[in-house]
Amino acid sequence: MKTLVLVFHPNLSGSRLNRRWAEEMDKQDDVTVHRVYEAYPNEEIDIKAEQELLEQHDRIILQFPFYWYSTPSLLKKWEDAVFTYGWAYGSTGNKLHGKELMLAISLGAPEASYTPDGAFKYTLPELLRPFQATSNMIGTRYLAPYAVYGVMQLSDEQAEQAAKAYPAYALQPEAALNIVNSN
Ligand SMILES: Cc1cc2nc3c(=O)[nH]c(=O)nc-3n(C[C@H](O)[C@H](O)[C@H](O)COP(=O)(O)O)c2cc1C
Repeated sequence: MKTLVLVFHPNLSGSRLNRRWAEEMDKQDDVTVHRVYEAYPNEEIDIKAEQELLEQHDRIILQFPFYWYSTPSLLKKWEDAVFTYGWAYGSTGNKLHGKELMLAISLGAPEASYTPDGAFKYTLPELLRPFQATSNMIGTRYLAPYAVYGVMQLSDEQAEQAAKAYPAYALQPEAALNIVNSN
């Protein structure tokens, strides 16, 4: 199984977790790590190249820090550009059908904030609904997201543990059993 890790972080050199996550994934077999902000400093996305990369892999991981209960803006731009009609959706748009889609997200706030009684009121799965709807539309299997909360509060040792735990979780074939119900 070939895995593609698409890293969307606007300042990877200043990152604590996403940079280390990408470095840990660089060391793995059958994994392609694509740092999208670095690939397109002017944000001019090469749609054909991105689509070819996606077609060559079986498990697609979108990795990003949570920004304003959502994604860094280039990820949204990338989705809008790359998931084209006739390729990703529509009667002939089947190129991603059957592939696995997983989100890997770092969050500044603690998990307790993402509860009905917490500061933000909504859970992470609720906030990620647009990804589930998108996954339904493009015919991928939406695997349970990998999330690390409270990144600001992590000690160096905990951050390092979180970095090492990521490939062990995200690359296991069994993650495919963890498909989130689409309704
Ligand atoms: C513009 C911006 C928006 C952010 N919005 C959120 C947010 O909505 N929820 C949250 O938990 N953390 C938020 N954060 C904190 C980031 O998620 C956190 O800094 C990041 O996950 C840490 O990962 P890194 O070390 O790889 O940068 C935000 C940070 C920035 C810069």
